This record gives sequence, C-alpha cells and structure tokens, in this order.
Amino acid sequence: MNARMDLDALVEAIGNTNRLQAPFLESSVAGLLPEERSELDAYLRFCATQDIGLDYLARSYNTIVVDTLREQVFFQRHDRYRYATYAEVAGSVYQNDDYMRRYMYGLALTTYLWPNHRVMRRFFLEQLPRDRAGTYLEIGPGHGMFFLAALRASGFTRFEGIDISPTSCAMTEAIVASGLFGRHAGYAIRCRDFLADGDEPASCSAIVMGEVLEHVEAPLAFLAKIRSLAASGGFVFVTTAINAPAVDHIWLFRSPAEVTAMAAAAGLRVTAELVVPYTGLSLEESLRTRMPINIALALTRAD
Ligand SMILES: C[S@@+](CC[C@H](N)C(=O)[O-])C[C@H]1O[C@@H](n2cnc3c(N)ncnc32)[C@H](O)[C@@H]1O
Repeated sequence: MNARMDLDALVEAIGNTNRLQAPFLESSVAGLLPEERSELDAYLRFCATQDIGLDYLARSYNTIVVDTLREQVFFQRHDRYRYATYAEVAGSVYQNDDYMRRYMYGLALTTYLWPNHRVMRRFFLEQLPRDRAGTYLEIGPGHGMFFLAALRASGFTRFEGIDISPTSCAMTEAIVASGLFGRHAGYAIRCRDFLADGDEPASCSAIVMGEVLEHVEAPLAFLAKIRSLAASGGFVFVTTAINAPAVDHIWLFRSPAEVTAMAAAAGLRVTAELVVPYTGLSLEESLRTRMPINIALALTRAD
C-alpha cells in the first residue's frame, strides 16, 4: 500500500491509471474548499484502515469513468439506457461485491472530485436541518458519506439507512463504526429493497435519497412511499440524474420538469431546487445535446 495517503497522492495515482483524467482533476481539486479537502484526506485515511490503498482507489474511480463513458456512447447512439430492469443489473452490480465495492469507493471520491457532485453535496449540507429531533431515514446510502455527514451535522435522535446491496450496507456500517469521524450511537442499517414491506420508521423528520431514483423500475412508487413515511412538515431530500447513463441506471428522466412533476404526483412539494447542467454547458445546451444533468430537490409533504 502507498505510504502517502492524501489527496495529492490520489490525484497522482489516478493520473497514472488514466492520463486523460489528470488535467481535469488538477483543475477540479483547485475548486475544493479547505474543509472539503481535509474531509477527503480524512476519508483517504479511513480507506487505509480498511486496507484500501491508493491504487485500488484510482482503479475504482477509473471504473466509474470508463464504464460511464461506454454507457454514454450507447445512450447517444440509441437514445435509451442499455438496461431497464433491476434483474438485468442486480447480479453484475448490487449483488457483485467486487464491482460494487469499486463502484462505491469511486463514487465516494466523485462526491468531492466532480464539480457536479460537489455542488450537490454542498446543497445537501445547506438544506439539511440542524435543529430538529426525530428520525432521519436514508434510502440507498451506498458508500455512506451522506449518512455520516447527517450523523455528524444534525440533531436527529435516530438514524436509519435502507440499502438493497449488502456491499453498500457493509460500507456504510464500516465508515460510521470506524470511530474516525466521532462516536455514533442510535443508528441502524437495514439491507433490503426499500419498496418491500418492512420495518421502516413512520413519521420521519427527515428522509434522504441520493442518486437512487434513476436506479429503480418504479420511481413514482419510491416517492409515494417516502411521502407516506414523512412527518407533516418533515424534510425530504432527493437527488437524481437526467440523461445520465451508467451501468445500473434503468429509469431515464429526460428533463428536470419530469422529476418535479413526478414528485408532485407523489404528493411532495418542492421547497428548494438545484439543477446542475453538464460541466461547461448551459441547461438548454445540455438538454439539446442530451448530456447529463443533475437535480437535487428539497421537498416536504404537500398537505
Ligand atoms: C448510486 S448509489 C447512491 C449512493 C449515495 N446515496 C449517493 O448519493 O452518492 C445507489 C444506492 O442505492 C441502492 N439501491 C438501489 N436500489 C435500491 C432499492 N430498491 N432499495 C434500497 N436501496 C437501493 C444501491 O444499492 C446503492 O447503494
């Protein structure tokens, strides 16, 4: 394992794996806030405690870059995502520990290193209420970075995560339980499909679901279930991707309006919205050329 475990060494390791990423990463890193830089360094130190070295992280990051590019070519050619059902991607992604680990470690890095993911994370921290008690529920915590951020930054009394992938559940559990980011009690991670009837808490003060809607066959049912579990006046935060192919994206949103219309149909009202066009393009250009757009919505029950 590399002796140096910091951001500069990571950028160097990624550049060695994929030369084309080097100039992009250098300019992207320059846009990190000092606290983001030190959080990312802390994440790298956590990775080291899990026996995850820079070479593995660089390969993980590169897996996302290369696989996404391949899906983008498919999408531009066929105007659809390659797969449309959970069954088609479950075995190769969510239930494949080797792939899912690389995917989630890579995604954790993009949370800081990709400008679009970074502004979404900032928006999440801006919107997350700090002064409320009650239950915080997160669907699809994946790598666990948002779950951990909520545990550290908010005053909710109970934290629950539900994820369909055993790998994601283990990764979220590992980062929270590591003790490197504070000692946390009063949380539980459940490994199952959010739509399955289960033991989810009712009347939640906060429900967060980042980058899951595009991964499911019935996104409206997800939003409707969120609506049914949210307390009146509760905080709901949802992000998703539009015209953004990936190996496991199976629901194609074609515009921000489609997402907000679906939220309204589920009985959720938008209180704040962030739409992030493709880097270097306007929203109109991103839509016209069908390049990826990200959207984050702060919501509450419409009643
Ligand atoms: C792309 S990751 C998102 C991780 C993190 N929330 C973020 O915003 O970066 C999607 C996560 O949703 C989980 N997921 C997908 N379908 C799900 C379902 N039906 N029920 C619960 N979790 C699901 C996946 O296992 C994965 O961990």
